[in-house]
Amino acid sequence: MIDLSTTYMGLSLRSPVIIGSSGLTRSIDNLKQMEAKGAGAVVLKSLFEEQIKYEVRKVFSYDDMVGAYTEADDYIRNYARTHALDEYLNLIREAKKAISIPVIASINCVSAEEWTSFAKNIQQAGADALELNIFVIPSDVDKEAADYEKLYFDILEKVKKEISIPIALKISSHFSGLANFVKKLSWSGVKGIVLFNRFFNPDIDIEKQRMSASSIYSTPDEITISLRWIGILAGRVQTDLCASTGVHDGKGVVKQLLAGAKAVQVCSTLYKNGLEQLDVINKELIQWMEKNNYSKISDFDGKMSFKKGESPAAFQRVQFMKHFAGID
Ligand SMILES: Cc1cc2nc3c(=O)[nH]c(=O)nc-3n(C[C@H](O)[C@H](O)[C@H](O)COP(=O)(O)O)c2cc1C
Repeated sequence: MIDLSTTYMGLSLRSPVIIGSSGLTRSIDNLKQMEAKGAGAVVLKSLFEEQIKYEVRKVFSYDDMVGAYTEADDYIRNYARTHALDEYLNLIREAKKAISIPVIASINCVSAEEWTSFAKNIQQAGADALELNIFVIPSDVDKEAADYEKLYFDILEKVKKEISIPIALKISSHFSGLANFVKKLSWSGVKGIVLFNRFFNPDIDIEKQRMSASSIYSTPDEITISLRWIGILAGRVQTDLCASTGVHDGKGVVKQLLAGAKAVQVCSTLYKNGLEQLDVINKELIQWMEKNNYSKISDFDGKMSFKKGESPAAFQRVQFMKHFAGID
């Protein structure tokens, strides 16, 4: 009998397959189906700091009226902010009532301002953990890498002061010293690091010579970036690693577990194939485990990671030399 149960950030999961944060996890009906189809946990749609600021700005269409700031304005500002938060807290409460798998809330931070204190309300609403979705694009030519990295530590410090539930950081791969950065993050009390978020990216429509958007959903080929970094970092940092991006099927989950992921998030595949895909993913995982005489998730044990695998150097190869790539 195959046992898919495992732990991630100290949470008990019945499967290592977690639903990544997206519009799919905003509906209670979807959450119920995800649980019924074997999800290990769900990450709710992010509460966006920028969205909250936008709502506030919408109320203050006269924002630029210098000197017009009154106590009443303060009240309205607070109201707009609190309203956005209340909606989110309701989602958490309803989710906790509707399903029994762990509910991970998510906030998107672009600054370490006082609004991070919302984390306390999120904990009180019953979230089992909080994922911080942080990404500030390092586009300022005058800013050092260390300035950008400091922001992550500042946000984490602020949020940590507010809550005792486990905190995960969901980051991008855009760091000049990624391995060292993740190691330092892992020392700061974060219980999980999600590698990597996948963002809205700009593209150019050459017919209209206009900016357009790149594909919203990932393809299975995109798994290789997170696979490389999960493989390189597993067992070498003091936190659980969760893989995200490009996992579309059970084979993808197997790869990430072999590379050393404690859990794996899926998103695009559910948009493309429907929530039934969860069932397919868990079945493929079980079939692979049966075929390879694995009875439990801990049997994977990051067996093919840089730290434990037989060919660790493979994770560090980057050039298309004929010897490795078979073509030049
Ligand atoms: C439509 C859509 C909405 C998303 N919204 C969020 C979000 O609110 N917060 C977040 O952290 N990630 C969000 N993501 C990113 C996903 O959680 C995931 O990290 C990314 O899509 C890569 O995983 P995948 O290859 O399985 O799709 C979103 C992705 C999509 C496609």
